[in-house]
Amino acid sequence: MAEFEHIPVLWREVLEHLTFPSDRPARLIDGTIGGGGHSALLLKKYPALQLLGIDRDNAALTKAAETLAFAGDRVKLHRGDYSSLASAAAEYGWDKVDGILLDIGVSSPQLDHPDRGFSWRADGPLDMRMDQRSTLTASRLLNFADLDELIRIFREYGEEPKARKLAQVIVEVREKKPFATTADLVEVCDRVIGRKPGKLPAPTLAFQALRIAVNDELGELERALPDAVKLLRKNGRLAVISFHSLEDRIVKEFLREEAAECTCPPGLPVCVCGKVKRMEIVTRKGVTASKEELAENRRAACARLRVAEKLI
Ligand SMILES: C[S@@+](CC[C@H](N)C(=O)[O-])C[C@H]1O[C@@H](n2cnc3c(N)ncnc32)[C@H](O)[C@@H]1O
Repeated sequence: MAEFEHIPVLWREVLEHLTFPSDRPARLIDGTIGGGGHSALLLKKYPALQLLGIDRDNAALTKAAETLAFAGDRVKLHRGDYSSLASAAAEYGWDKVDGILLDIGVSSPQLDHPDRGFSWRADGPLDMRMDQRSTLTASRLLNFADLDELIRIFREYGEEPKARKLAQVIVEVREKKPFATTADLVEVCDRVIGRKPGKLPAPTLAFQALRIAVNDELGELERALPDAVKLLRKNGRLAVISFHSLEDRIVKEFLREEAAECTCPPGLPVCVCGKVKRMEIVTRKGVTASKEELAENRRAACARLRVAEKLI
């Protein structure tokens, strides 16, 4: 397969809801630029749009530079975490932006390359780092985290029903031989979790959990959302695509809070709670992939897009 291939999920819906004024050079931050798929479509649709694309994965940035070359100096690419989008924007003198897109999680190229260690389907090093400068790999976590931490990771991030047993066996196994490859972990998952016909393959949740922990995926999202709202100008839009319920819950609850009105009891002459409604939710239940999209891209099956607009 090509070195970096990725079909942007929910691209029709992103184009529909992430809209920009055409009477001035509007600004977009794509915090998870990946191969630049969504951003390319937006840059083509809005010929004056300026883009700041962020990713922590160097391979993604290399691909994005190639994909977005047609837009010349309308594009700036920045290596870093999207939780630092405010400081990245400040580096380029951007104090306000018109749109922010986060398409979180792993990309198809990351999943498809065995040497990145994200997938249990192929043998490779137990790596799972999106940013290869980071020192925390999946094997390091498996070999050095204590039992309680491993149980927490499998339980909280994987919602794995056999979290405790799995962690216990991992601790026993690593005494004899440290974990090094995805196959080492798959073998333990198959043994402890088993595989019932019609159910999720045994390693699925454990791999998801480790990946989330290695990349601090939920922490990144929690830190980024408040800064994203601050950075948006009035009528600017935030669009977030998430791929599992843990992420989607964070986005949904955050936006619900931002869209809530003053919470003072009725009848008070003046507001004492200080709650200000800063965002209007545009996609109430979130948007999922159409049948048409599912037929062309099965990875869109878990994706949900939520969009909200800044009011003040
Ligand atoms: C699903 S892909 C994005 C694909 C992109 N929308 C496209 O159309 O090509 C997610 C990308 O976000 C990056 N990423 C995930 N979490 C990140 C974070 N916290 N900070 C920066 N980049 C992150 C990953 O490295 C990956 O390249």
